Amino acid sequence: MFGEMMKTAVTALFYCFSQLGRLAEAAPVPMMGMGTLRPSGIPQAQDASRDGCPCPMFQLSAMEATTEFVVESPDVVYGPDAIEAQYEYRTTCVSREGGVLKVYPTSTRFTFRTVRQVPRLGVMLVGWGGNNGSTLTAAVLANRLRLSWPTRTGRKEANYYGSLTQAGTVSLGLDAEGQEVFVPFSALLPMVAPDDLVFDGWDISSVNLAEAMRRAQVLDWGLQEQLWPHMESLRPRPSVYIPEFIAANQSARADNLILGTRAQQLEQIRRDIRDFRSSAGLDKVIVLWTANTERFCEVVPGLNDTAENLLRTIQLGLEVSPSTLFAVASILEGCAFLNGSPQNTLVPGALELARQRRVFVGGDDFKSGQTKVKSVLVDFLIGSGLKTMSIVSYNHLGNNDGQNLSAPPQFRSKEVSKSSVVDDMVQSNPVLYAPGEEPDHCVVIKYVPYVGDSKRALDEYTSELMLGGTNTLVLHNTCEDSLLAAPIMLDLVLLTELCQRVSFCTDADPEPQSFHSVLSLLGFLFKAPLVPPGSPVVNALFRQRSCIENILRACVGLPPQNHMLLEHKMERPGLTRGGPVVAACPVPCKKGPAPTAPNGCTGDANGHSQVDAPQMPTT
Ligand SMILES: NC(=O)c1ccc[n+]([C@@H]2O[C@H](COP(=O)([O-])OP(=O)(O)OC[C@H]3O[C@@H](n4cnc5c(N)ncnc54)[C@H](O)[C@@H]3O)[C@@H](O)[C@H]2O)c1
Repeated sequence: MFGEMMKTAVTALFYCFSQLGRLAEAAPVPMMGMGTLRPSGIPQAQDASRDGCPCPMFQLSAMEATTEFVVESPDVVYGPDAIEAQYEYRTTCVSREGGVLKVYPTSTRFTFRTVRQVPRLGVMLVGWGGNNGSTLTAAVLANRLRLSWPTRTGRKEANYYGSLTQAGTVSLGLDAEGQEVFVPFSALLPMVAPDDLVFDGWDISSVNLAEAMRRAQVLDWGLQEQLWPHMESLRPRPSVYIPEFIAANQSARADNLILGTRAQQLEQIRRDIRDFRSSAGLDKVIVLWTANTERFCEVVPGLNDTAENLLRTIQLGLEVSPSTLFAVASILEGCAFLNGSPQNTLVPGALELARQRRVFVGGDDFKSGQTKVKSVLVDFLIGSGLKTMSIVSYNHLGNNDGQNLSAPPQFRSKEVSKSSVVDDMVQSNPVLYAPGEEPDHCVVIKYVPYVGDSKRALDEYTSELMLGGTNTLVLHNTCEDSLLAAPIMLDLVLLTELCQRVSFCTDADPEPQSFHSVLSLLGFLFKAPLVPPGSPVVNALFRQRSCIENILRACVGLPPQNHMLLEHKMERPGLTRGGPVVAACPVPCKKGPAPTAPNGCTGDANGHSQVDAPQMPTT
């Protein structure tokens, strides 16, 4: 029984990945959202097998070959400039009345408006020459150039595995046969195509991106060789180095610096952003911090607690971290700023500045490996009614990030970021946990140079079962850290940019508004998600995924994905879709023999119940 539950959880955990094979196979058709523009000058496919569908079988799969769809509804209008959707937001409001919880269903009518034209988007990475920065740049180039390269297990092709928007899918609904129809996530709304991104950035290390890629030791040699000429000319801009914020072991690479006062450094970063925007002919720039983890910055009243104080602190040359300096520069330039590291870059003063300037900020710390698994596994355990009492997470890695994290203050930032990830799941279950009760949670990170970017994570989860039983799960996870982080960075910029084109209003407040400047919709991609003041923090991965999916669905007037599949649970089919009555199909209409149910009955594809009388499963 428990084995089955685990199997289900693992299946859920790898839901995104399960779509990948099919997606890759469907890849011959370019995955472009409606309205996406492909700029001229993008090299076309070199590998002919990616131009046409090599196998007609894939055209029959539930993944549609075309990614375009139209919502046929009086509530959705596709104008030349924007998609406008009327949307009924149904939720509930709970109040405590005389010891009883009263639950009131509520409904609010929204109008969502999404601008269809996607911009020419530039991405500036702080820490461009690091493992993540060089890997992301290489990944986009490899995809744009449609590269393939030999490895000892065969030829590999560039792809965007690990990206929710590029390799994840959503179900649009059921077709006439009662089968779900999936499209790539990126098809939901017009999104910038990742191949079209333009990169620039800063690094305290002066090496060019080709050398940075080689130093990172992430990519296969055959791929590096092909990318080298395309990356050699890319050179990070000088950056701000304040030694006390990162580990002393980083000083050897700090040879590419912006000198001067804090105020002058801020001005230089702002000039860099403007220069990139104009010289590359960009409509928009997004800035993403993927530089070394800094130590935490103390939040001090008068120093960084308000926008005004923070700006004064910079002018006076008082304590401000490099990452906060970059955040402030980005906000002042009207560019969204995203923080991929764990430190508290977005101090209250920076958040207030973002709010005042109506600029999106998001953070903190990419949710890539161990924490991502944790935010599924603990959700599964506690959601199943098991009382998880101990979570022990050990890591070792040998890249520059690992070396930086070997210093206690920088490790502390990571430890804090990794530790809060189960809080919401624990608090969601007062049946299991008394107020204030929480599992023991221990995080260890060790630097082992030999393993390089191939990080090892070992996790042990111990939970209480019924009647005094105990269950211990042990996981071992090995993978290239930067190959997990790069697609997350991609999703962050693509989703942030999309959110910049969405506005909405309600019947009660017809003035169009945008999302809150703290873009909490990005929580799926962050270990310690930032949320607007007073908002609940959600760490559970599939709640976070549903949030993104359902908000995007709302923008095209589609109801939230509810997974009820009532069409398949009725004795007599009666639900209509677009007019015709749904074909009777109480069991999945798969080709081939009907599946065997746990009770030994075989499914009946004639539209009748599988069994006349329910039977008790024996397992
Ligand atoms: N790879 C992952 O899976 C992952 C997951 C979550 C978070 N992160 C975080 O992402 C960050 C980057 O990871 P990485 O593996 O690329 O590390 P890395 O050490 O390879 O790269 C960081 C780069 O930042 C540069 N740098 C340091 N301070 C700088 C500054 N002030 N301005 C500009 N550049 C600066 C360094 O020279 C280096 O090139 C780390 O903070 C890491 O903790 C990574």
